[in-house]
Amino acid sequence: MVQKRVTVPILRGMKKRGEKIAMLTAYDYTFALLMDQAGVDVLLVGDSLGMVVQGLDTTLPVTLDEIIYHTKPVKRAVQRAMVVADMPFLSYQVTPEEALRNAGRLMKEGGADAVKLEGGRKTAPAVRKMVSAGIPVMGHVGLEPQSSKMLGGYKVQGKSVEAVDVLLEDARILEEAGVFSLVIEAVPWQVARQISQSINIPTIGIGAGPHCDGQVLVFADMLGLFTAFQPHFVRRFAQMGSEAEEAFQSYCQAVKKGAFPSLDESYSVDDPVLKELERRKSTSHEPNRG
Ligand code: KIV
Repeated sequence: MVQKRVTVPILRGMKKRGEKIAMLTAYDYTFALLMDQAGVDVLLVGDSLGMVVQGLDTTLPVTLDEIIYHTKPVKRAVQRAMVVADMPFLSYQVTPEEALRNAGRLMKEGGADAVKLEGGRKTAPAVRKMVSAGIPVMGHVGLEPQSSKMLGGYKVQGKSVEAVDVLLEDARILEEAGVFSLVIEAVPWQVARQISQSINIPTIGIGAGPHCDGQVLVFADMLGLFTAFQPHFVRRFAQMGSEAEEAFQSYCQAVKKGAFPSLDESYSVDDPVLKELERRKSTSHEPNRG
């Protein structure tokens, strides 16, 4: 059955109807295919791939080419979900013109349906430039991992009245600049609820409570694949990390014992070839009559 693709107007309609939006990060074909088939609405090729795929400590070194590389297989896998590509650190902060050029590459080369960037009002000129070129842009406020060095780590944001006012104003300015949706990360749920109620575009929460219009998690966290640490807001919907480790151990044991592969798991030649091979073997072993 041909699936109706998730688009900007569809996401807006979901907010209007109070229908929640399910978003997950995806970095490869295999998992993107499973997520799309499962009904995930939006797949984010997040710069979190720096941690999950590349084993980095921060998202800062992730490049535009790397995001493009991962966006291609994700896009190839989906029939229904919207694919959003993250704009990595310094790909949109320098000038709006550069932001437009880089967002264009994510769409033209990667096949992204939309792009996401971090930051409040300071990103509004870049957002306007991209939106005026027809590029759907998702905003991201609250904890901005690309600014973790300035923030002194990955800390909950919006805890004071002043900080809440800044967040509300940032959300309003970004909506006015044209973002079609807004990620809110690591913000008290009461604050995220107030932001969600104050703007007309869908909000997507991560560590921002249940009142956002949708939710996003890093897929490796929610599958229990990435276990180095577990943020407070992560729910593990599976324990795939321990299951995978057990499978790897069983594989090692089976190989080392010679129990894998069995003959049933091996290819076999047809009878005439087998007979010829056996005939040759028996002639080559004939006693030397000298
Ligand atoms: O890069 C990422 O995975 C993200 C999500 C945490 C929203 O930006």
